[in-house]
Amino acid sequence: MKLEEGWVPIVLSSSLEAATSTGVVVDGRELVVWRDNSGEAHVWEDRCPHRGMRLSFGFVRGDHIACLYHGWQYDGAGQCRHIPAHPSLDVPSTIKVPTYLSQERYGVIWATTSADALMPDVASAGEITPVRSLYVDRPAKSVRAMLEQAGLECPSETLGVLSLNADPLLVGIQTISPVKTALHVVILGTPAVYAGARQKHYATWAANLRFSLEHAAEVA
Ligand code: FES
Repeated sequence: MKLEEGWVPIVLSSSLEAATSTGVVVDGRELVVWRDNSGEAHVWEDRCPHRGMRLSFGFVRGDHIACLYHGWQYDGAGQCRHIPAHPSLDVPSTIKVPTYLSQERYGVIWATTSADALMPDVASAGEITPVRSLYVDRPAKSVRAMLEQAGLECPSETLGVLSLNADPLLVGIQTISPVKTALHVVILGTPAVYAGARQKHYATWAANLRFSLEHAAEVA
């Protein structure tokens, strides 16, 4: 799914600590995901308006992110607020990074460009236990078809729920490119029950799943 078409899962919440950033790709579009010191996540185009450096290489300072190259600083709305080479300059409002809508749900950070997009709904989703993300060399449509054959129920194109040994797993499906897909896996259940051995068990399951998906025959 493209960002214009709805909410796309892009990274596990637990993978992004406060004051850090990372780069992700959705259908060929490069995004920076960063979390400010207060814990709020931001999803933007991964390109500094100055000379195009990836902002995912930058540094988070409080509620700003600073570009690695020349240190231009952007606030949480993507507006440039400080240019080190011109410290007294009142930075023009036109110097701004394109931003995306973002939301954290089910232990995953989601993004979209559509103000009307509805977040997929999963009944009885309360506390979650993160498992891991995996990256599969196969198209998203093909991955989803294979998972559905294995029992995945998909309330939306980007989200499925699978019951394994009576444990409910949620799988977020992210199109990276026409031939690459990311899966973000969490357990729909409290860490008080699932953290530790069962969490590790499903992390191993997910690693094996990647191998199976890449080597399975196409679903007719
Ligand atoms: S390229 Fe980002 S500050 Fe120059």
